Amino acid sequence: MRIAVYPGSFDPITNGHLDVLSRACGLFDQVIVAVLQNPGKHPLFSVEERMGLIREVTKGLPNVVVDSFMGLLVHYVELKGASCIIRGLREISDFENELRMAHMNRKLNEAAVTVFIPTSYNYSYLSSSLIKEIAIHGGNIADFVPPAVEQAMYAKFRNV
Ligand code: PNS
Repeated sequence: MRIAVYPGSFDPITNGHLDVLSRACGLFDQVIVAVLQNPGKHPLFSVEERMGLIREVTKGLPNVVVDSFMGLLVHYVELKGASCIIRGLREISDFENELRMAHMNRKLNEAAVTVFIPTSYNYSYLSSSLIKEIAIHGGNIADFVPPAVEQAMYAKFRNV
């Protein structure tokens, strides 16, 4: 079975992430969406909330598994018996950092192959941080995230 890991912060998952994920699902038997547990960061959604939202919006993708991880990505990839790491590319400027990470991950684990999937041009300007900024000021985010995430974000900001 060909397993890939799609790691990230996913705070929250966006239509851009989903676009990359749906393409990855066509390439692998199983794609594990792995949410990074990073105690040093102050995310909007807890890891559990993020995983719940990802599960909700990936119901139509039968080969997706949602999980979280701590520590080094390459260790997690090995633990899961995965052959590839999926990363989305929105624009050229993403590539510099992503290539550096891919080289480092390969250095740490020669078996770890990073597969870059370009996002649809329509989502090339999306980022979770921009969407949070728009939502916190009451802007319309309906074109950028699935409805479940939109509702969760407005609910979150009502309570902030
Ligand atoms: O969605 P993000 O924040 O761009 O995802 C970054 C992520 C989670 C892929 C990266 O920070 C990561 O892999 N963190 C785990 C720690 C690790 O392995 N660091 C070395 C990377 S070369």
